[in-house]
Amino acid sequence: MSVRVRADLDSLPAYVAGRTVPGSTKLASNEVSRGPLPSVVEAITRAAHEVHRYPDMAATELVDDLAERLDVPVERIAVGCGSVALCQQIVQAMCVPGDEVVFPWRSFEAYPILTRVAGANEVRVPLTAENALDLDALAAAITGSTRVVFVCTPNNPTGTALHEDELVAFLDRVPSDVLVVLDEAYREFVDDPKAPDGVELTRRWDNVVSLRTFSKAYGLAGLRVGYAVAPPEVAEALRKVYIPFSVNAVAQAAAVASLGAREELEQRCAEVIAERKRVGDRLLELGYRVPPTQANFVWVPLGERTRAFNEHCLENRVVVRAFTGDGARVTVGTPQENDALLEAAASFAG
Ligand SMILES: Cc1ncc(COP(=O)(O)O)c(C=O)c1O
Repeated sequence: MSVRVRADLDSLPAYVAGRTVPGSTKLASNEVSRGPLPSVVEAITRAAHEVHRYPDMAATELVDDLAERLDVPVERIAVGCGSVALCQQIVQAMCVPGDEVVFPWRSFEAYPILTRVAGANEVRVPLTAENALDLDALAAAITGSTRVVFVCTPNNPTGTALHEDELVAFLDRVPSDVLVVLDEAYREFVDDPKAPDGVELTRRWDNVVSLRTFSKAYGLAGLRVGYAVAPPEVAEALRKVYIPFSVNAVAQAAAVASLGAREELEQRCAEVIAERKRVGDRLLELGYRVPPTQANFVWVPLGERTRAFNEHCLENRVVVRAFTGDGARVTVGTPQENDALLEAAASFAG
């Protein structure tokens, strides 16, 4: 007799993390290249002296600070070990085996994995021809078994963002017993005034959650902390399925310090936004198709040429995130890193 690992795990797609290749520029994981915000590094160093103590399980200081800044009651906030953990907590808290989780595809690659680990059924809804979320198709995919719909805006990996009016019309169509998760991991990079603010929408609908993270614009991907703004009963359920102490003390201190570094954050985002435009414009000039992006990455839908593009970039010491047969996602880095990418893209095109 031997132990019995769940047989269905064999068929799970693997989460493919962006590769790190020594000596190459990594533009594969939507990280910011400039590191944590400068003032936050000091808070991290201070917190390191206290790591013999367990972290505050309720992340009280962080939750209080978020509540004040976002003007939402603390009961509506839950933290997680990165927003990917919150995605998992949501599926665990909302679904029993056989329930359905609807999400756009292609989108954040953790959605199908987390859904299947929970024993729920995934319903993938194709993007539009313009690589954007198809809200009509998402609404049409909802059935009596649907418990959760993920709406990723800006969408990873295509970068496209919804407009508030279309999202509002969609939310009006979703049955009130289905939870809509607005995954706003790239929210800080959005500059389209028509884009929605998910936290605002959580005030108007009792079945909407906004997920945000310190991993991207704040530069804390290695520390793992994100948060949800949710209806109180959902936030409570998320706390119930939270792995005790999983948001560590250094992450909590860094997140609090990050919230206080607004100006540094804005400067950083302004550079990413300017570079995103430069990279996108140049790729278009070179003849690539590039959907409009509101994130810190661009999507290059290359179809069957994706693999060759990926290899060419690697030969030129640039690591992108290739989705074979579909497209390549390229993170916007520093101007110098972006130049390296653009040179590789130019020699591939020419
Ligand atoms: C759309 C989206 N959501 C969530 C996450 C998870 O981020 P983290 O767990 O680092 O907060 C990512 C990371 O790539 C993402 O792209």
